[in-house]
Parts: sequence; structure tokens; C-alpha cells
Amino acid sequence: MQRKYPNLCKPIKVGDVTFRHRMFSAPMGGTDITADCTIGRASTAFYELRAKGGAAAVTVSECMVHPETDGSHAFHLDLHTPGSLASFTYTADAIRRHGAIASLELSHSGQYAGTYLTDKDKKKGLAQWGPSAGIRPDGLEVGELTKAMIADIASAYGTVAGLAKRAGFEMVMVHGGHGWLINQFLSPYFNHRTDEYGGPLANRARFAQEVLDSVRKAVGPGFPIEFRMSGSELFDGGYDLAEGVAIAKLLESRVDLLHISAGTYQRGFSVTHPSMFEAHGRNVYLAAEIKKHVSVPVATLGGLNDPAMMEEIIAGGQADVVEMARALLADHELPWKVMTGRDADIVKCLRCFVCMAERAVTATRRCAVNPLIGRELDGTEIALAPRPRKVLVAGGGPGGLEAAVTAARRGHRVILCEKTGRLGGILHGEQAIPFKYEMYELGETLAKLAADAGVDIRLDTPVTKEYAEQENADALIIAIGSAPFVPPIPGLAGDNVIVVNDYYLAKDKVGGSVVVLGGGLAGCEAAVHLAREGKTVHLVEMREELAPDANVRHRPILLAEIAKQKIAVHTGYKGLRVTADGVVCADCAGEEHLVPGTTVICALGQKARRQEAEELRDCAPYVARIGDCVRAANITTAIYQGYHAALDI
Ligand SMILES: Cc1cc2nc3c(=O)[nH]c(=O)nc-3n(C[C@H](O)[C@H](O)[C@H](O)COP(=O)(O)O)c2cc1C
Repeated sequence: MQRKYPNLCKPIKVGDVTFRHRMFSAPMGGTDITADCTIGRASTAFYELRAKGGAAAVTVSECMVHPETDGSHAFHLDLHTPGSLASFTYTADAIRRHGAIASLELSHSGQYAGTYLTDKDKKKGLAQWGPSAGIRPDGLEVGELTKAMIADIASAYGTVAGLAKRAGFEMVMVHGGHGWLINQFLSPYFNHRTDEYGGPLANRARFAQEVLDSVRKAVGPGFPIEFRMSGSELFDGGYDLAEGVAIAKLLESRVDLLHISAGTYQRGFSVTHPSMFEAHGRNVYLAAEIKKHVSVPVATLGGLNDPAMMEEIIAGGQADVVEMARALLADHELPWKVMTGRDADIVKCLRCFVCMAERAVTATRRCAVNPLIGRELDGTEIALAPRPRKVLVAGGGPGGLEAAVTAARRGHRVILCEKTGRLGGILHGEQAIPFKYEMYELGETLAKLAADAGVDIRLDTPVTKEYAEQENADALIIAIGSAPFVPPIPGLAGDNVIVVNDYYLAKDKVGGSVVVLGGGLAGCEAAVHLAREGKTVHLVEMREELAPDANVRHRPILLAEIAKQKIAVHTGYKGLRVTADGVVCADCAGEEHLVPGTTVICALGQKARRQEAEELRDCAPYVARIGDCVRAANITTAIYQGYHAALDI
């Protein structure tokens, strides 16, 4: 058969190993790290899901190679730790039994040891070592590695690589990028040594070469070694792409696959993990340039989720392999969907950073659009219900759609009623904001999946008590969402005011100067968009801080974007009345100020449709309320609750 994306779907040989296609799962930290640093069952299940979804390679991230000088968060493969080898072996097995190649990322955080720890106090008890002595921005002292320590660490990479091979891993990835130890040696910013490991690039690359030699000695010829590096550090004082090319050339004879990422974790997080404000594939140019100068295969990544774009990258010779991290959380089946020409069914990553924020806050994983992530041990299969039931879903937003799709896949007869003429709920309004387009697409994709699963979709059909009782369903899922909160502020009902949810309908009416009233997540993102459109934007927020409802990873990036777009921010301002010239606000002292703008965007939040939901409480034997109608929250909650409400029927 002819594949829709023939280049992306073509096998590739790296070292002596053949990979089934070109879509690899980039390293992502696991979920449960046991006290003795072995891979827990939940993490094994986390990685297995990616293999099951069809990835050609699944990289288990970050195996710490030298705990004596590192103190990072992650797994440690060590024969002295009881169960360590077994746990790695079970993980490799879990990946391999689905036809994917299991790879293990070998890393050392160097001076950034402890960065990931949820308990930040603990990192003070760790040793922080780097190529050169110094003080970290957070005040921790960094020691300079002695030559004996360098030799010991390089040798440890080999020892651990050998153990990885013994455990059944068929590839290793040496992490040489993102600001960690090998990167610190390569970087003129971090490395100020005057011995043979510092100074000219040939010296700065020596540690990487010794590490790779040690790994090769341990794994033997033909065993693929993937080297992850930043094509450029992308900050002043770091190495640039020209040096990135030189590094690649110095290392290529020792590796089988050069994996070109970008930037550093500490000084460019939103570029290393391209945020929603960045273009998809914004780092591909780095791999493409390096590829011109080397003869080994090259991998690229960063915000990739569109099969057509990935096909073009391979077909156009910009890279030989594409890797994805977040896109494979959002839809672990993405590779199978590409292979089988079902790309319209791909649930795309929103780049909302729920995945990374959840890890930072609760030390677990979640994904806004994939209810399985971090909960894989609870079951990843949708089983047929023992007895098909009639299920009525009220509301066609993300929660209702997820519930409908899941219930239909369980074999239930599902009717989904939506009171408006279109599906997607609140997500429908995101279509006019380019960096949130994937949120709009989520509604469209779920609507397609619901139709394909046989859901009887009834638009323009509000579910009243009478309607529900007449349908006489066995189960009712109430997913009627929330409504915009528009308080009785004088003038807020005027012609110059647009409620943020309706922006897509009224965007042509927006003048050159805009006041966004409400600095929560939705207001802040609308302000960024309008500023990017060339409008003069004032952002008014009653509280002292912007976007407290944004997650801990997205929020700093959003605030940086607000600053970059030169949006005038007025926190501690309460809107009193809207006039033709803007919004009159009171500051904390009660003094009035006119915040100028010919158009006002009302983004004052959402309120749950609790009362309407309450009225449906007794309309079926099984009733579940999910998502925003319980409490106005977010996509993550709606999707998770929708999925589980359907599993409970
Ligand atoms: C949840 C999550 C965990 C990650 N953990 C690691 C890690 O442990 N080691 C690593 O080298 N990169 C890690 N990364 C970075 C990814 O491998 C990748 O470089 C980055 O996310 C950009 O790819 P993407 O845009 O496809 O997500 C992580 C990324 C995510 C989203």
C-alpha cells in the first residue's frame, strides 16, 4: 500500500538497528521515581504507552550516570541498588514488545544538579559540580571537577551504557545539550578551564569525546549511540550555530545519530520546549544546517505535531528523523495514525505545559488532552461495557465530547445534545487566535471522533428536564459548561465591548486601541494576540498579579510575552464604568483613572452553569456532572472527568 507520508513512514537504519519509521519519542521524565532511584511501575507504563502508540523508538529519560557528583531527580542504573537492573529490564521489555526500539538517556546535570527536585530545599544537600567553579543564580556553590573526577564520570557513562545494553535497551542517548554537564563543557559560557578541557573548542569537546569513547567501548560497534546536543545555545555568551556545526563535526565519527535540539533549560526554556507563542518546528533550521556538514543521520524536534510538516522535513532533507515529546503525550497513537493515514484523528498538543507544570507542582504527569497520561496503571484500554446502555450527553464542549466518544467506544448508544448550532463549546471561540488554534482544533477533532464512533449528535438541542425525561436514557452526563461572567458594570453592555469568547465573531470590529478588562489567563492571552495584531493594548486586572490561573510553566512565558509585546499593564485597578474612550478604573487608593481604548474586551472569567445542571439531577438513573458546570476550570479537568464519567457507566 502507498502510505500518505512515505518519507516519514520509511524505515531507517541507525548503527546496526533498523527503526520501523522516522517518528521517535523524545525523552520525557517518568512519573514515579522510587526512593532508591529505580524505574517504578507507573513510569514503565508511561513509556510503554508511547511504544504501543507506534513510536519507532522510545527514550527513557534521564538515567543519572554518576550519583557521586550528580544529584538529579532521576533513575539510576546501578547493580549495587537491589532491583535496579530488573526494573530497567522490565521497562525495556515493555517498550520492545510493541515493536519499538528502547533507548536510555544517559545524563549528568553538572552544576544544575537538583534543578528538577520538587523539594527545593533538598538540593542544598547535593553536590553541584561543573567544568568551572562558580555560584549558581540561586546562590548554590559549584565546585570545579578535577581531572580524576572527569575521568571517573566519563567511565561511569560507559558502565551505565553497558548495563543498559544488558537490560535490553537497543540504543542509548547521551544527553549533551540543554545546559547539562556535557553542554557545560562545550559552552564558552560555563567552561572557563585553562587545562586540556577548556579554551578552544577542540578542548571543550574533549569531555564529550571521552564520554562517547567510553560508551562505545562498553556497547561495542553497531550499537546505536544517539547524541543529543543543542544546535545553538541561543543566548549571549553561549555557543552559536557555527560552533554547533563544529561540535557536530568533532563528534560525528563517534555517534550514529546526531539529535539536534536547541537552547538550554535554564536560559531559554520556551525555545527548548517551544511554547505556543513560537512557530511549530522553529528549531528545525539548526538540524538542517548541521545536516549539511555531517554524514551521520540527523534528528530534529521542537513543537512538531503536524504530519505534513514532518514529511516535508524528511523529504526536503532537513533531517532524517523527527522526534516528539509533547505531541506523543497528547496523542500516543500519533505514529499509528500517521502510518495508517488517519492523521485527521490526531489529537494535537496544545503546548499548554500542563505536562511539565504538573510534574513541578505534584511530581506526577498529566496532559490536558489525554486523560491517560500519568494514570497509565489505571488502565489504557477502553473495554466494552457488559451491557450496552442508552447514554445522553448534555453539552458538546470538550468534556461532553470526550465522554460521548468514550461511551460510544464502550458500545453504548450515545446521544449528544448541544444547545448551540456547533460543537466544541468554549474552544470554538479560540479559532481567531493563531497561537490557540489547536484548542479550537481539539473541539473539531473530538467532534469528528464522536461522529465516527457513531454518536447521534443533535445540534440546537438544549437538554431540558422534559427533554431528558422523554429520552429516558439509562445514563445522563451533564457537561453544559460555563457562561462568561459579565458583571453589571455601567457601559459593559455597550457596542464597543466584546466578550472575549465572542472575539472570533467580532474581530473586525476591534479598533486600534483596546482595553482588555480582566487579566486572568484568557484576558492575558487575548491581550498578547491583539498586541501581535498591532493594536495598542491596555490590560486591566483587579488583583495584584496577572494570570494566577495559568500553570507554573506557562505563566512565566506568558508574562514574558506580555512584556515583549509592550502591553500596558494596570494591576490593582478595578473597572468602574465603560465609556466610548475606554474604561474608568479605581486604583487601590480609590482614585479614578481612564484607561484609554476604543474597544473593550471583557475577559472577567466564567461562571459555572450550576443551576441548570442541578435541574437535571434526577433525569436518569445514572447521572454525572463534569467539567465547567461543576466549577469553571480548564480543559484538563473537563477531558479527564468526561473520560471517567463514561467509563463508569
Ligand atoms: C513532560 C516532559 C518531560 C521532559 N523530560 C525530559 C528529560 O527528562 N530529558 C530530556 O532530555 N528532555 C526532556 N524533555 C524535553 C523533550 O525531550 C523535548 O526536547 C522538548 O519537549 C521539545 O520537544 P516537543 O516540542 O516535541 O515537546 C521533556 C519534555 C517534556 C514535555
